Amino acid sequence: MTGLVKTQIIQKMKDKKVCIVGLGYIGLPTMGLIASKGFSLVGVDVDSQKIAALNKGEVYIFEDRLEELIQNAIKNNKIKAQAIPTSASVYMIAVPTPLIAENKSPDIIYVKQAIQNVIPHIKEGDLIIIESTCPIGTTEKMQQLIYEARPQLKDKIFLAYCPERVLPGNILYELENNDRVIGGIDKASTEKAVEFYTCFVKGNLFETNAKTAEMCKLVENASRDVNIAFANELSMISDKAGIDVMELIYLANKHPRVNILQPGIGVGGHCIAIDPWFIASNFPKEGKMIRTAREINDYKTLWTIDKIKDYISKFTEENQKQPTVAFLGLTFKPDVDDIRTSPALFITRQIVEEGYNVIAVEPHIEECKNIKLVSYDEALQKADIVFKLVAHTAFKDKSESNIINLCYV
Ligand SMILES: NC(=O)c1ccc[n+]([C@@H]2O[C@H](COP(=O)([O-])OP(=O)(O)OC[C@H]3O[C@@H](n4cnc5c(N)ncnc54)[C@H](O)[C@@H]3O)[C@@H](O)[C@H]2O)c1
Repeated sequence: MTGLVKTQIIQKMKDKKVCIVGLGYIGLPTMGLIASKGFSLVGVDVDSQKIAALNKGEVYIFEDRLEELIQNAIKNNKIKAQAIPTSASVYMIAVPTPLIAENKSPDIIYVKQAIQNVIPHIKEGDLIIIESTCPIGTTEKMQQLIYEARPQLKDKIFLAYCPERVLPGNILYELENNDRVIGGIDKASTEKAVEFYTCFVKGNLFETNAKTAEMCKLVENASRDVNIAFANELSMISDKAGIDVMELIYLANKHPRVNILQPGIGVGGHCIAIDPWFIASNFPKEGKMIRTAREINDYKTLWTIDKIKDYISKFTEENQKQPTVAFLGLTFKPDVDDIRTSPALFITRQIVEEGYNVIAVEPHIEECKNIKLVSYDEALQKADIVFKLVAHTAFKDKSESNIINLCYV
């Protein structure tokens, strides 16, 4: 696409109002980015605290440049947050798609609710985009839902699935620069969605159908999970065999076609640790490797807890007293404030629940239920054993010799 064509598209689209449903880690930065390109947006969320905060220019997600973008947009009257959707030309759905705990199958209830809430506002020619990670077939189901409620809109709207693949901690950069996969329910929908993304994405926009786009997102995270599981499995085998796994991986990676990832305390966050189940639960016979990788990565966290308990038992035996244990880092990965499905948080909670005296250091969050947060210096001063669980940059210069680094066990 030439620069001129792109400018013409942006001019054409800019007057269109955008309504983003779900103002979390994806919806909020997306709103900030699109507003910075001159669009007017309405953000919708069921969380009244988020709406109130946002309308005051307060940003509840820690991402570089986000506060500045949101505050500029508010100053220029480009964004407004509210509880219910309003009439717009483009609707973007970025609500959660969690797992059902009992059977680990995906729950698309929030996507359904979000679509149901925008249905009364949809007009002929509007574009609806689902960005939430979804099991395959969801976009087609939402198409049915819309047509059942508003049969007169049949074949008169555009609907596409456009998954997100951003890295928390670098979301704004990646929103703008990553390549995107865009899959409409038909060719016209794909093209309409591509036009829209052209206005704020510099990366390449790859066209496909909705089902392939849905699967593409799931496969990306399953692929990461499988590769991490291999490293985690190696680390447990190496531990038993008396081999330094980091040295082993370093040497194996000297092979020109081998690239083993690093092991860790498990896999967290709400993409890699969750999305593979969207495939494994819907394709139980075919998705065996994907399921096994999930199980290995979850098991690695339990294995780490056993290691920690071994250290504690040894201390108790040698010193005839229970130690105060400090954990460094609670988030699911370094340098973010996101504790969802965090193995570090799970480990810390588990040790607290077992009655040990625990303190924790987490520079990216202010409080954490049932866990006593202290400063790094206080942790070093008070703890008998210090375990590093997350390799935050804030801990980098503080490589005290008595810290047990579990980040790459
Ligand atoms: N966070 C990531 O890095 C990431 C990356 C790629 C894809 N995704 C996917 O994007 C989707 C959103 O993820 P997130 O991290 O932004 O989640 P989030 O929990 O941070 O935000 C979702 C927001 O939606 C709101 N919400 C829930 N139901 C609603 C409804 N019916 N109407 C309006 N608002 C509603 C919640 O209050 C919340 O503020 C998920 O499907 C996730 O898997 C996330």
